[in-house]
Amino acid sequence: MEAPGFLTLLYIMVTLPEKQGLSTLPWGNWVMGGMFTTHYIYRALLCPLLNPSMSPIHPFVWASALSFQVANGTSIGGWLGGYGPTTREEWTGSALRVEVGMMIWAVALMFNMYHDDELREIRRAAARNQKRRQESKAGDENKERPNVDKVYMMPENGLFRLILFPHYFTEWIEWCGFWMVGGLHCAPARIFVVNEVFTMLARAVQGRQWYIEKFGRAKVGNRKAAIPWLI
Ligand SMILES: NC(=O)c1ccc[n+]([C@@H]2O[C@H](COP(=O)([O-])OP(=O)(O)OC[C@H]3O[C@@H](n4cnc5c(N)ncnc54)[C@H](OP(=O)(O)O)[C@@H]3O)[C@@H](O)[C@H]2O)c1
Repeated sequence: MEAPGFLTLLYIMVTLPEKQGLSTLPWGNWVMGGMFTTHYIYRALLCPLLNPSMSPIHPFVWASALSFQVANGTSIGGWLGGYGPTTREEWTGSALRVEVGMMIWAVALMFNMYHDDELREIRRAAARNQKRRQESKAGDENKERPNVDKVYMMPENGLFRLILFPHYFTEWIEWCGFWMVGGLHCAPARIFVVNEVFTMLARAVQGRQWYIEKFGRAKVGNRKAAIPWLI
């Protein structure tokens, strides 16, 4: 459901400039287009291959996420494709801001991937354990494939020590870096950050309650939902 977002953005960046009477787009626009595309290649194409299992998504949630992706891809793609900066001069003097923004984006993306993978490792480890148990049953010919659907444990590494949804937190930081590259006036990137924080924070707060019910208040301890020491 995430792929339509970056495909929409790329389509707009390729087709809109001509309609706006532009022969090319400045490098800064393509840098931002590349950052957006890189993130969603990971999220839309790699994650489904890497995840050991995922719960089914309600059609309403799926449709909402899809419409958000298309709207967001259109909004950012429109800005990058001709309604934002259209000349090299408009990016002049912003090298430091762009470099720092890209660094924040890249480091946060790596942390986002790391924390996503910590959750995957819980199910990979459960699958390994199931396999080992099956193998130790000598003579058992009816060996089933490990089923790790709905295996949940308390993640313990990295920022999971402080918050229960560090993959959300790092994603917000990542898109703040993206916004920084575009500059404060880049309204589509700003709206993207605001939308993400408000939708995902509510989910994280609800998720923290779920962790408390499943594992108990003592095990959750002082861990917040998604913002260290705060929420
Ligand atoms: N949700 C959003 O609105 C949203 C929006 C934009 C970006 N993202 C990004 O997409 C990524 C995934 O988000 P998400 O909302 O799907 O995260 P999530 O609810 O935490 O689930 C991520 C994956 O980990 C599994 N999982 C979650 N908690 C687990 C635990 N305690 N033990 C074992 N496995 C566990 C889930 O399995 P099940 O599916 O079986 O529960 C799912 O496969 C994140 O990096 C996030 O930043 C999410």
